[in-house]
Amino acid sequence: MEWGMANRLAQLIQPDGHALFLPIDHGYFQGPTRKLEEPGKTIKPLLPYADALFVTRGVLRSSVAPDNSKPVILRVSGGTSVVGKDLANEGITTSMEEAIRLNASAVGISVFVGSDYEKESLLNLAKLVDDGERYGIPVMAVTAVGKELEKRDARYLALACRIAAELGARVVKTYWCEDFEKVTGGCPVPVVMAGGPQVDTELEIFEFVHDGMQKGSIGVNLGRNIWQNEFPAAMIKAIRAIVHGNAAPEEAQALYDGEKKSEAKKQ
Ligand code: 5RP
Repeated sequence: MEWGMANRLAQLIQPDGHALFLPIDHGYFQGPTRKLEEPGKTIKPLLPYADALFVTRGVLRSSVAPDNSKPVILRVSGGTSVVGKDLANEGITTSMEEAIRLNASAVGISVFVGSDYEKESLLNLAKLVDDGERYGIPVMAVTAVGKELEKRDARYLALACRIAAELGARVVKTYWCEDFEKVTGGCPVPVVMAGGPQVDTELEIFEFVHDGMQKGSIGVNLGRNIWQNEFPAAMIKAIRAIVHGNAAPEEAQALYDGEKKSEAKKQ
């Protein structure tokens, strides 16, 4: 691996081999979704605990100070919305030249395996990988399911992750699911986990993150379960304890409960 590519990956994946990415990119198809109405306010208290920020260029320029010291994964796919015909019909929205100008450490793109736009999204990924490899920029593939949330099982996610890796993604983001070892076991590049199922309690989030880590994931790219929580800073600290401190779910819960009290005083 060339120095530039290796250096960028080392900025994202920490010396312990693990990573906590904070995605704040949801507005690119959801608009001002709950708790992300003012992205800068969402990002600021959480940034110290993230290893990298996953954002579009619009949010990066408008809402992140340029002296921010955290690596940026630039969301470069889009062109669809929650009110449009088909979320899967994405294109590449941002050039590699722009990613370099913005000093991105990686770029991220969604692929929609099994959708009407499977081929287009996979060829977009392949093209992005070609461009990224030319300049030493790693590509993170996001295995997206659009509105078809029932697709989030091991058989489907293992298929989607493997295809993304075969096409050259350096990191793959997918959902946690039951039998997660089948997803990581079939994917030859690092896998990070996003939201997973809707859950009712923080403990369920800590449990799935911990389970995924035990089963071969290198970490998370966790959004709403952190910043839509009533106590987001407490949440990210507890997730960080699992990802980088190998904390058990109950230990993460105890940390969350303690941090929640001091966050409540500040609110
Ligand atoms: C949105 C994304 C998000 O980055 C990803 O889904 C993680 O966010 P969450 O944990 O909220 O699902 O790719 O398209």
